[in-house]
Amino acid sequence: KIYPVILSGGAGTRLWPLSRAALPKQLLPLVNDKTMLQDTALRLAGRPELMQPLIICGNEHRFLVAEQLREINVKPLGILLEPEGRNTAPAVAAAAHYLKAVDPEAVMLVLPADHVIADAQAFYGAILRAANLVQHGALATFGIVPTAPETGYGYIKSGEPLPTEDNGFKVERFVEKPDRATAESFVAAGNYYWNSGMFLFQAASYLKELEQYQPAIATASGEAVAKGYRDLDFCRLDEAAFAASPSDSIDYAVMEHTRHAVVVPASIGWSDVGSWSALWEVQERNADGNACRGDVYLDGVKNSLVRAESRCVAVIGVENVVIVETNDAVLVTHKDQVQRVKQVVEHLKCQD
Ligand code: GDD
Ligand code: MG
Repeated sequence: KIYPVILSGGAGTRLWPLSRAALPKQLLPLVNDKTMLQDTALRLAGRPELMQPLIICGNEHRFLVAEQLREINVKPLGILLEPEGRNTAPAVAAAAHYLKAVDPEAVMLVLPADHVIADAQAFYGAILRAANLVQHGALATFGIVPTAPETGYGYIKSGEPLPTEDNGFKVERFVEKPDRATAESFVAAGNYYWNSGMFLFQAASYLKELEQYQPAIATASGEAVAKGYRDLDFCRLDEAAFAASPSDSIDYAVMEHTRHAVVVPASIGWSDVGSWSALWEVQERNADGNACRGDVYLDGVKNSLVRAESRCVAVIGVENVVIVETNDAVLVTHKDQVQRVKQVVEHLKCQD
């Protein structure tokens, strides 16, 4: 049996002003009328090999998460609450400790709560292929064919093909967030994939690797689960124990070091919707290439994303822009410059 673990703790700052600390990207209906968390959970529903999902999120989002799952009739295996985010390595470790106690052989499917996967059938196929590869301690990644030298992703160099029919490869090298020149050389080389940020492994295998490369995270997260307590449907991780964990991502803490990684190429219509332009790409667009939401008036506008949350927004004679209106902030930017939105959030934080 495969236990999906949905990571729902990120901040999604590049989608400001819609995505906020109190209501981050994964809890918003960005692409359609379901929130990204709901889409992630629904994509898994009704698949015989998959158990009910385990969610891990920040304490402050617990009621929103529980309510959003109730709305779509998904009953989670549990909702683990982090007193404070320590990034993905400790979050995945807490989930692994929790699952190992339920089922010592548990295989976990780690999924970000905020990705778009257009081809759910192909996605499920990739999961089943990966599940065939992880019986002897392997950590499976899902590789996406890169289309640009993005520096915000992990890169996976595929090595020898594995001796099964599952179309998997050994990972020769895993490089998290390379600089631009390195990313360009990887894309040119041809045998590199983007890391999709989804993983599949036995809970025990992940913990074994973590103990080797970042023992402090393995210990702290184990204690946080052991000393944690149930509260309604929630499982609260112990605050002091979890706070003692170093903060690090699974990619830096484990994937760059492990010698047991494998990669399953996954052609699944994947996007991590990491920016407004990425959202424009995956959203439905009209004949002029515009993706609109809310009370919007357009005249002579092309290939733009315009979103009105609380007021009427009129746009005339521009192309390739992003305009996002909310009740307390408005963003206007060229579609090529959307990565700079992150700096706005940093700037606003400094002003607080
Ligand atoms: N519960 C919890 N707690 N979830 C978290 C935390 C945390 O402290 N931090 C991040 N997450 C969630 C985010 O919401 C997101 O869904 C996922 O974990 C990945 O975190 P990101 O912060 O978005 O990672 P990234 O985009 O920098 O990089 C990762 O994803 C890329 C693909 O989107 C890496 O795995 C890269 O290698 C990968 O290419
Ligand atoms: Mg991300």
